[in-house]
Amino acid sequence: MRHRDTGMRVGILGSGLMGGKLGTLFARAGHEVVFSYARSERKLARLARAAGLKARSGTVREAVRDADVILLAVHWSRMDDVLSQTGDLSGKVIVTCSLPMNDDDTELVIADTSSGAEVLASRIPGARVVSAFNTVPSEVLFAVFEARRRANKPSLVYCGDEPRSKRIAADLIRDVGFTPVDSGPLKIARYTEPFALLVARIAYQGAGGAEVAYRFERLGK
Ligand SMILES: NC(=O)c1ccc[n+]([C@@H]2O[C@H](COP(=O)([O-])OP(=O)(O)OC[C@H]3O[C@@H](n4cnc5c(N)ncnc54)[C@H](OP(=O)(O)O)[C@@H]3O)[C@@H](O)[C@H]2O)c1
Repeated sequence: MRHRDTGMRVGILGSGLMGGKLGTLFARAGHEVVFSYARSERKLARLARAAGLKARSGTVREAVRDADVILLAVHWSRMDDVLSQTGDLSGKVIVTCSLPMNDDDTELVIADTSSGAEVLASRIPGARVVSAFNTVPSEVLFAVFEARRRANKPSLVYCGDEPRSKRIAADLIRDVGFTPVDSGPLKIARYTEPFALLVARIAYQGAGGAEVAYRFERLGK
């Protein structure tokens, strides 16, 4: 399993804006990363080369096989496809940043009485699902990582039902440069997922910029 010296084995499912960047930062932080699930193998290989010696590309099955933790970073519409390729995920720690968005990314297709994270957990028996990283636009990730040694790091909420997997998610959040904030059990994703959508709307449709994601904590101060 993990240690701060040797790092964890992290399987990336979905190597786009979120998976590509987070995987790169996990590798830079010392974890062994396998990038998987993109439309081109060449893209995965390129990402792995750029991320350094701790990274490689592979199939979904390879990314999952020996992973201590899996980052799920695919569009909601690709979920069935990616899950059909993983093999058995029982016992695996899955950190999901995926939001349950409709095809044109305008609305959540699951909300109020459930969340994407909870639906995912119910669909993968025995998996240990943690919801994290979905409240932050990918655009800010590199800048936050570069500033990670500063005292006032931005906060990032995460939620889940199982202490060990939450500790793993908190470590990854810290490694990327945020202060992890435990927001409670997985059902709290019913609040954080709509919040993530709101943040994205304000960031991309307003003048606030992507950094608005971690400026909320300064409101009223
Ligand atoms: N982007 C953000 O700032 C942000 C923030 C919070 C949460 N999220 C959530 O995070 C999740 C991922 O978002 P993202 O922005 O990283 O999406 P993305 O850039 O589109 O990445 C999705 C990944 O899935 C791959 N993919 C799509 N269709 C595929 C197919 N038919 N076969 C194989 N691979 C395929 C893409 O391949 P290619 O690389 O070849 O395109 C890409 O690697 C979403 O659920 C989103 O709601 C995103």
